[in-house]
Amino acid sequence: MKILVLNGSPKIEKSDTLHITRAFLEGMSEAAPQDVHIIHAVDLHVEYCSGCFACMRNGGTCVHDDDMKDILGEILESDLLVLSFPLYCYGMPAPLKAVIDRILPLSSMAMRKVGDRYAHVGQADFSRLRYLMICGCGFPNSRRNFEPAVMQFELMFPQRRTAITVPESPMFNAPEAAAVTEPRLALVRKAGRQYAETGGIDAGLLAEICSPMIPEEQYAAIVNRGA
Ligand SMILES: Cc1cc2nc3c(=O)[nH]c(=O)nc-3n(C[C@H](O)[C@H](O)[C@H](O)COP(=O)(O)O)c2cc1C
Repeated sequence: MKILVLNGSPKIEKSDTLHITRAFLEGMSEAAPQDVHIIHAVDLHVEYCSGCFACMRNGGTCVHDDDMKDILGEILESDLLVLSFPLYCYGMPAPLKAVIDRILPLSSMAMRKVGDRYAHVGQADFSRLRYLMICGCGFPNSRRNFEPAVMQFELMFPQRRTAITVPESPMFNAPEAAAVTEPRLALVRKAGRQYAETGGIDAGLLAEICSPMIPEEQYAAIVNRGA
């Protein structure tokens, strides 16, 4: 499977979230060989979308001539698009958001009703593409934290999508937390294997992965000791 990972963490290889993403990809590779390309959004030359809608009217050519041309080509050649990012202000970090805004050329101006809402009609064939969001965050609570980012992901990519959200993710970069992070990463690897084999993740396993690794109060106390 051809997998394109867009890493939204400005910490690049030091990203907490990337530990989760790598474990998932390892699990996928245990099930079958995978062709993985990781791109760090912060390293790209991607201009902000100008909002001119030229791309949606002219068949998909953006007024900006930058790295986005190659990214769009790569998205269309991929089977799986992975958005790996830390939660920033309840959403995705700005460098990744700039990239996501610039996928506008894949849609045309025409809109159609889909269920109870409207969506733009595609002007490229990405019908085989699946979408995976992997998001870490610094607070211990999952509720009233990840919802805006998950909602944005679900509205952007309504079909063939899966969201993995893991609270307390700075622990993945803390060797002293290995006793709790290693078992969690083992579950993530299992989810990756399952995803590669079946195209989905068992609801119970997903819920376990998305839960806090240690009790919220304990995590907050540890963070506050160093604050
Ligand atoms: C600008 C900024 C905004 C943040 N906003 C949130 C937030 O809304 N909720 C949260 O739980 N953590 C928030 N965090 C914490 C990060 O999500 C957390 O440190 C995460 O582990 C960083 O992941 P990374 O190493 O993959 O970049 C924020 C951090 C920064 C720097």
